[in-house]
Amino acid sequence: MGSASDAPTMHKAAGVLAELTIPYEMKVVSAHRTPQRALAYTTSAADRGLKVIIAAAGMAAHLAGVTAAHTHLPVLGVPMDGKLMGGMDALLATVQMPKGIPVATFAVGSHGAVNAALFATAILALSDPAINQRLLDYRRRQTEAVPEEPPAP
Ligand code: RP5
Repeated sequence: MGSASDAPTMHKAAGVLAELTIPYEMKVVSAHRTPQRALAYTTSAADRGLKVIIAAAGMAAHLAGVTAAHTHLPVLGVPMDGKLMGGMDALLATVQMPKGIPVATFAVGSHGAVNAALFATAILALSDPAINQRLLDYRRRQTEAVPEEPPAP
């Protein structure tokens, strides 16, 4: 995440990863305030064994693009909300990557954080049957938790 202020939203992603028993780390890595940290983190990611990077950032939101520029690992961008037009600034900054360096972009805020975690899990599940089974179980539990009837008024 680009700032510690993004943590409350990204803890939603962490919660999903924990529920699915996916090992993860969370770091504050700012493309503009800590550019050397960003460079070191992104260029060492693949060698350290990371498989997928979820990059969360708000406002100008260049963290996901900068991350993708420095690693061939899949980068999942989550735009943070709460700034200009409910996060439209971060959404456009994250999704509008010029061709050649892709960033998979998710919904603004906590919905995007949760979906990025599920998408990262789906990527890992392609080559890991145990993770695949946990993801299928998660989806089944989610389906079973949806009531057929709405609550009484
Ligand atoms: C971005 O700027 C961060 O990802 C954060 O969403 C936004 C504001 O950062 P703070 O001023 O709250 O640290 O880099």
